[in-house]
Amino acid sequence: MVKKWTKVVAAVAMLAMLFVVAACGSGTKKEAAKSDAPKADKKIVLGFSQVGAESEWRTANTESIKAAAKEAGIELKFSDAQQKQENQIKAIRSFIQQKVDVIAFSPVVETGWDDVLKEAKAAKIPVILTDRAIKMSSGNAEDYYVTFMGSDFVEEGKRAAKWLVDYMKKDNEPVNVVELQGTVGSAPAIDRKKGFEEVLKDHPNYKIIKSQTGDFTRAKGKEVMEAFLKSAQAEGQKIDVLFAHNDDMAIGAIQAIEEAGLKPGKDIVIVSIDGVKGAFEAMIAGKLNCTVECSPLLGPQLMEAAKDLMTGKQLPKRILTKEGVFPAEVAAKELPNRKY
Ligand code: AHR
Repeated sequence: MVKKWTKVVAAVAMLAMLFVVAACGSGTKKEAAKSDAPKADKKIVLGFSQVGAESEWRTANTESIKAAAKEAGIELKFSDAQQKQENQIKAIRSFIQQKVDVIAFSPVVETGWDDVLKEAKAAKIPVILTDRAIKMSSGNAEDYYVTFMGSDFVEEGKRAAKWLVDYMKKDNEPVNVVELQGTVGSAPAIDRKKGFEEVLKDHPNYKIIKSQTGDFTRAKGKEVMEAFLKSAQAEGQKIDVLFAHNDDMAIGAIQAIEEAGLKPGKDIVIVSIDGVKGAFEAMIAGKLNCTVECSPLLGPQLMEAAKDLMTGKQLPKRILTKEGVFPAEVAAKELPNRKY
């Protein structure tokens, strides 16, 4: 009898042990599944490499990204490249080393990203492009980023030219245009020029007589405009129009035009791109004729995209920003609504 009871107790103990082992086993499985799942519950770490602080636009873009990260509870590792590609590459490599969850950057120029983007891909860190596009020397650029959010720069160039042709109402007389280009090799400089020229092709009386980079800064815009004015005078040419790839260069050029004793906005018609407050003020003062909008307020969209990525959502390859055109006539009414 005692022997029988001993056997029953042993069997119960064995069953209990098996139950404990099974329970532990299922717990381990649950843990494994959790670590494979998208990291929706942990604080997202986002590494962002900014171009620099070259313009009013860029400052607004940086503020938008920092404020949106704070608002979204995302840890932002922010790095300012001071308009140097090598600094951006270094920053991206350090984000990879730090194993951030997402890398975002606004590429200063279009090319030269192959190696570092391959490294990010090998480390399985998703990359988001903001504001500017890239080109790879081999392979498809789209394979190296999850989404590209920002403006259509070709369209902005076209909008500037369409506004100009409508405003000038000169179909036969020659119109001499000077152009202040953005940073050499950058997507906005390449695309805005392309869009502007595409529209002017149908208006052969418009001629770009001088075109040079002002690197998207006020100081360079002023310096290059001074040189344009001097050489035009020496060559006996009249400058009718200035097309500046951003408002900051236009504002710098306005100073140069005034110092040369001319009236910006009257003697020389000026159209630029961005739509910063400084441009609206210049339009109200009658010194700038039109600004084509390019929104820098990409922060909230970027944070939303980073969160979506962490919860495993598929992002569209291209997220386009909606923008308008603001001629001087609407500047006073619009200025109070401007957010940058
Ligand atoms: O990439 C956007 C451009 O970069 C803006 O037009 C310019 O102001 C900035 O520096």
